[in-house]
Amino acid sequence: MIIPSILSANFSRIAESVEMMLKEGARTFHVDIMDGHFVPNLTFGPELVRALKREFDLILDVHLMVENPMEAAKWFEEAGADWISFHIETTPHAHKLINMIKGRDKKAGITLNPSTPLELIYPLIEETDFVLVMSVNPGFEGQKFIPSTLKRIDQLRRYIENEGRSSEIQVDGGIGPDNLRDVLSAGATLIVAGSSIFKSNDPVSTYRLMKKIEEEFREK
Ligand code: DX5
Ligand code: ZN
Repeated sequence: MIIPSILSANFSRIAESVEMMLKEGARTFHVDIMDGHFVPNLTFGPELVRALKREFDLILDVHLMVENPMEAAKWFEEAGADWISFHIETTPHAHKLINMIKGRDKKAGITLNPSTPLELIYPLIEETDFVLVMSVNPGFEGQKFIPSTLKRIDQLRRYIENEGRSSEIQVDGGIGPDNLRDVLSAGATLIVAGSSIFKSNDPVSTYRLMKKIEEEFREK
């Protein structure tokens, strides 16, 4: 699944960007929540989630990059988020938080920065709906994909398979038509794309191209 990230949309026309992708068949959108502490940038609060859910029929994948994920998860759940992921670096109570999120019938994801050992999340695999492997240092759109991420995705996919689990692997940062195939081949199934879509000359064509690459990959 290709998941457009609204961080790269034109903020004065977010609704238009969402509509444009909905028309192309996108249903799930990635919403980056940054608090200016865990990451050096500030973005959206729960009101954006509430407004988008009120206006459109879509699934919102909320990526929390905040120091207080316990509290924040609650705010975004109440606002209507459908999927919520949080960083393992931000809480010693990840197991509790995953179960809180799932207890409210949301999909729970756990995320790690590029330098965080994968093994940290292994004890949580059983409970986790998806693992978000960051392929850039979180905070900004438009950064370059970190190549060693491919090895991490592959390693995680093997671990999940060996354990007989069904958690999906999401990858976020620096993904576009040029490296999408590599990311899929490594084992990712949920692909976040911000600038490669919205900052391209023709976002619709780029989204279509990425979907086509993914379809071709699945047919192989
Ligand atoms: C980065 C965010 C990403 C961002 C990705 O901290 O978590 O979701 O939107 O943007 P691109 O695809 O431009 O790297
Ligand atoms: Zn993100």
